[in-house]
Amino acid sequence: MRTALIIMAAALRGAAALAKLPLERFSVAPMMDYTDRHFRHLFRLLSRESVLYTEMVTANTLVDDTGAPRHGSGDRWLAHDDHEDKTILQLGGSSPKVLGAATELAMAHHSYAGVNLNCGCPSERVAGAGCFGAALMRDPDQVASCVKAMHRHAPVSVKCRIGVVDSVRDLSDDEDELYTSLARFVETVSREGVSRFIVHARVAVLSGLSPDANRKVPQIMPGIVQRLQSEFPALEIVTNGEVNSVDDVLARSTGLQGAMVGRDACRRPWHYAVVDEEVFGAANPVKSRRALLDAYAHYCDRAEVELAHDGYSPRRAVLKPALTLFHGDAGAGAFKRTIDALHKDASLSAGGVLRAAAEHVPGAVLDAAPGERAVVRREAAAA
Ligand SMILES: Cc1cc2nc3c(=O)[nH]c(=O)nc-3n(C[C@H](O)[C@H](O)[C@H](O)COP(=O)(O)O)c2cc1C
Repeated sequence: MRTALIIMAAALRGAAALAKLPLERFSVAPMMDYTDRHFRHLFRLLSRESVLYTEMVTANTLVDDTGAPRHGSGDRWLAHDDHEDKTILQLGGSSPKVLGAATELAMAHHSYAGVNLNCGCPSERVAGAGCFGAALMRDPDQVASCVKAMHRHAPVSVKCRIGVVDSVRDLSDDEDELYTSLARFVETVSREGVSRFIVHARVAVLSGLSPDANRKVPQIMPGIVQRLQSEFPALEIVTNGEVNSVDDVLARSTGLQGAMVGRDACRRPWHYAVVDEEVFGAANPVKSRRALLDAYAHYCDRAEVELAHDGYSPRRAVLKPALTLFHGDAGAGAFKRTIDALHKDASLSAGGVLRAAAEHVPGAVLDAAPGERAVVRREAAAA
């Protein structure tokens, strides 16, 4: 019996490793404090095809140094509801043992489509904690050992930068030099079964720049990502960094697997309600923001009840992803202000707050189809 179980577990592990990552023509980047389960739920309502990433979870918060699960951590960090079939869990860490065990734990209890290793975060908080995040790019063999351990339990991809330097003084214009070390990294890591690399087309500066500044300078160099794909045609390369519209997605991903969008997807999620049709050639799942808000308000009501515990209310967290739904449109300010004003109102549910806020948005905006610009008369906009 025990032998049969061991064989079955091994077969399941083999199947997990053989499973393929979903097609990633368009994805939303992992972003701490943003791409939580609520944001992903909202985004999934407006796109069924996009690949979505979780916030980074450090492997050590899930398992201890021996690989044993930490009590309760799985549910706290990994739980999500349905809709997650094209969602990738991003892990941070540098120990093959810990990353392997964290991947096993995540895949055993939570149905992610795959796991991604963070080799792109330059935050001193992360990069300074031993060799971790972008600093890992300097040790391709270590990354190869990590992904080997992870790949036993899940399809794995790696998110990295085009290069890494200690400080801005070390930045160089020599694209060949940069490319050579990127290619060495990718070649070494891909030997362990990773075929997808998401490359933020900007060098990471490990010290002297805030994480925010590290996403603005130095300049992006998308040509290096294109070169990587053309010299490694068997790999699936996804470009990232200042891809700021659906048009950018189409233009920047030419010849690649796809493009990943970060900040712009939070800044104006509705802009991406056309990606299923324009990028994947499928039907857009939602007809208007009225329909989207209705579905999301139902979710908020359910999540508010199910996730409340020990005095914690998820209300702020569930409302946050909706705040920018009307970005750039008439009624955007009034919608946000109403959520702000009502979010503590105990007589309303979280969904009720959203419904009340939507009353301040002109009907033409609420009913505009994805990609359609609503024409709103000045009086209606001011109302
Ligand atoms: C608030 C914030 C949090 C982020 N958190 C992560 C993270 O957890 N893991 C990661 O690999 N990258 C993280 N990033 C970087 C993004 O995934 C992305 O690579 C970067 O923002 C560049 O893409 P963009 O120009 O489209 O925003 C974060 C970025 C932002 C703005």
